[in-house]
Amino acid sequence: MSKKILVTGGTGYIGSHTVVELHDAGFEVVVVDDLSNSSVDVLDKIEEISGKKPAFEQFNLADAAKTDDFFKRNQDIAAIIHFAASKAVGESVQQPLHYYRNNLVSLMNILDCQRKYNVANLVFSSSCTVYGQPDQLPVTENTPRKDAESPYGNTKRVNEDILHDSVNAYPELKTIALRYFNPIGAHPSALIGELPLGVPQNLVPFITQTAAGVREQLSVFGDDYDTPDGSAIRDYINVVDLAKAHVVAITRLLENKNKTGYEVFNLGTGNGYSVLQIVNGFEKATGVKLNYKIVPRRAGDIEKIWADTTYANEELGWKAEKGLEETLLSAWNWEKRLRNIQ
Ligand code: UD1
Repeated sequence: MSKKILVTGGTGYIGSHTVVELHDAGFEVVVVDDLSNSSVDVLDKIEEISGKKPAFEQFNLADAAKTDDFFKRNQDIAAIIHFAASKAVGESVQQPLHYYRNNLVSLMNILDCQRKYNVANLVFSSSCTVYGQPDQLPVTENTPRKDAESPYGNTKRVNEDILHDSVNAYPELKTIALRYFNPIGAHPSALIGELPLGVPQNLVPFITQTAAGVREQLSVFGDDYDTPDGSAIRDYINVVDLAKAHVVAITRLLENKNKTGYEVFNLGTGNGYSVLQIVNGFEKATGVKLNYKIVPRRAGDIEKIWADTTYANEELGWKAEKGLEETLLSAWNWEKRLRNIQ
């Protein structure tokens, strides 16, 4: 059986870590990425870590003709992991059409090609954003989804629906949607990690840039939430743990171990940490003091969420293994390497 996996968005943050894990598990990888938010140099870093350089093509999967041409030339693909998407929440409010086109049309083009060229298996990058602020915690896969707070969030929700309905209509297709909680950290080699463009919107890249002196001060958005220390709570998962779950999901599909054509799994640690706990955890793990101040809540933020990971633990046999301090240290080591800090 072919062991060739198409990883869309494979030069991105989660994609690049997943390519390394796929290589380690013996898979052959072809990456498609338009490099709109990543660098082609990542392919060399992947090779440095895993000893293998994935095949690479640069195009945007929202282009139907290019996508079709790619699949026509690569008829030995056994499965797809679809990471490629625009992911900035604020930008999606400003440019909704760009987000809907990029994120929805690309998936539909892939699905058309899966049917035309007989590629049954797809793993999709979804997000805990589909739960909104849940009524009960922790959230299981059966916790009802809520209306999205942003066009970005809505693309995750609608793409889940597109996949669910497609699998229903076309039984030859099989999909696993993985709902990520908050991915953080970097590969222990510090050769790959998160590379935000401009001012980071997410907490941990902002922390590491503040520690590196690139940003003057970290803003902690809100200390008046209904949480033990008043700051908002998330489930932060190490990106390498997350990447490993993709190998498990792909293997499950290839071995026909999925129970239904469309399956959903939460990928988190099961533990919630507040923003202030992350700040303190970073200081403890690295010995670097962070300059931060409390500011008002950020619009659109939820108060608290963390995963019930029972289903992923039992059904996939996968569990997040890395602790918070190790993960925060890996993020700092990556930032230090980027900035040439000893
Ligand atoms: C956001 C998106 C989510 C997306 C994820 C990854 C929303 C509602 N959710 O998650 O869909 O998948 O990014 O891109 O937008 N914080 C600070 N100071 C900062 C930055 C963040 O205090 O400078 C706080 C936030 O208020 C939040 C926590 O840190 O409480 C985590 O924020 P962030 O890393 O941006 O992730 P989410 O907002 O949870």
